[in-house]
Amino acid sequence: MNIIIINGPNLNLLGEREPEVYGSESLSEVNTWIENHEICADLSLEFFQSNSEGSIIDFMHEKRHSADYMIINPGALTHYSYALRDAIVATQLKTIEVHLSDIHNRENFRKISVIKSVCLAQYYGKGKHGYIEAIKHILESK
Ligand code: DQA
Repeated sequence: MNIIIINGPNLNLLGEREPEVYGSESLSEVNTWIENHEICADLSLEFFQSNSEGSIIDFMHEKRHSADYMIINPGALTHYSYALRDAIVATQLKTIEVHLSDIHNRENFRKISVIKSVCLAQYYGKGKHGYIEAIKHILESK
């Protein structure tokens, strides 16, 4: 099974960006941890990060026929990007939304996700473990 794992704007700065909120590990450390997790043994994972909404949408278009599932932490795009929402619908990628922090217990604007209703599930507030929860969701829904 092919799963693409996308991280959006500012997530390239994981580790140095507000570590008290997002943790002290870098994105490449988190990705390596995911890749080496026992539940991923039989999976083909492809990681992508961009600070640009258009590049994320282009990547989704490129992968729309080859990826079985998409896990995405869209960063702040979560809260306002109808283009990203449309891309999930247009590509028909089966999508799980992940956030490192507890978006429901922070500023009000973070409580709104414009992609939630086109995703299979939303995981938040579990740090890097949220990505594994998303993979478990996929494996259990097979
Ligand atoms: C985030 C939460 C968003 O509100 C924020 O803009 C991010 C990261 C998270 O992982 O908790 O960039 O998606």
